[in-house]
Amino acid sequence: MTTARWNRKDLLGLRELSADEINLVLETADAFKQVGTREIKKVPALRGKTLVNFFIEPSTRTRTSFELAAFRLSADVINITASASSLSKGETLKDTAKILEANHVDIIVLRHSSAGAPQFLAERLRSSIINAGDGAHEHPTQGLLDTYTIREKKKRIEGLNVVIIGDILFSRVARSNIFALTKLGARVTVVGPSTLVPRDFEKLGVAVSYDIDKVLPTADVVNLLRIQHERQRKEYFPGVGEYIRLFGLTKERAKLLKPDCLIMHPGPINRGVEIDSEVADGNQSVILNQVTNGLAVRMAVLYLCGGIAT
Ligand code: CP
Repeated sequence: MTTARWNRKDLLGLRELSADEINLVLETADAFKQVGTREIKKVPALRGKTLVNFFIEPSTRTRTSFELAAFRLSADVINITASASSLSKGETLKDTAKILEANHVDIIVLRHSSAGAPQFLAERLRSSIINAGDGAHEHPTQGLLDTYTIREKKKRIEGLNVVIIGDILFSRVARSNIFALTKLGARVTVVGPSTLVPRDFEKLGVAVSYDIDKVLPTADVVNLLRIQHERQRKEYFPGVGEYIRLFGLTKERAKLLKPDCLIMHPGPINRGVEIDSEVADGNQSVILNQVTNGLAVRMAVLYLCGGIAT
């Protein structure tokens, strides 16, 4: 059990968190996962607090998970999207957020296409700001729920070989996973086309490989990433057929994996591109466990940050 104390009003990324702080979130999520098995799944931890789910980019998993997490903690929740807000009339992000704060909102969960948008608000508002994915920068709750799922299934993180495959350059999920897993002692290898996996990633303490068939047999966990077409230029991507041939986790290629290797994907999945349908739905896949654990992890994050917000 960690003895760490939480003193952050915001969760902006995992780069700045210590191993103890990450463990504190995971242990708090353990308690909230228990709550989810009870007949009455609601606790009064955030009763009287107001949360705004402010999503400027599309989302299914993260938005619904934060909304459900807030309901389970008894917070009041409103949802705002770009098209339904005055952002579409030219209002700035800062002015929109100031309007929310003037209404005494306690927690703002922000997804934005610009890296650094959550930090921009966190520096200017008293409300808690939770990063729900900012550009290609970080997606901290995805990194935490992936780490939680590995720890739950493997009973440890330290010493595991975790292979992250795909569009690493444009992936906020890859960055948040790398920060959490390396801090907790995993060996991380990133694999993909050289245009999408620059050698520079070694500076983050991970190994870089362009040979998927060589690394798959050593993996305890593989995490497949979606190609972020919305964030990259065409010339970065070799073409769908070429990508599947070189880096797709096809049914054939999955035979290289150890029988107890976990197969993960943050979603949304491009079936038949980064992963074959049969592999995504097979018995080594923990993709739906990731979704389930996302709820407990987000309850933990809202509970910890919401307790600090003034
Ligand atoms: N994994 C993830 O962030 O999915 P959504 O875009 O559906 O939230």
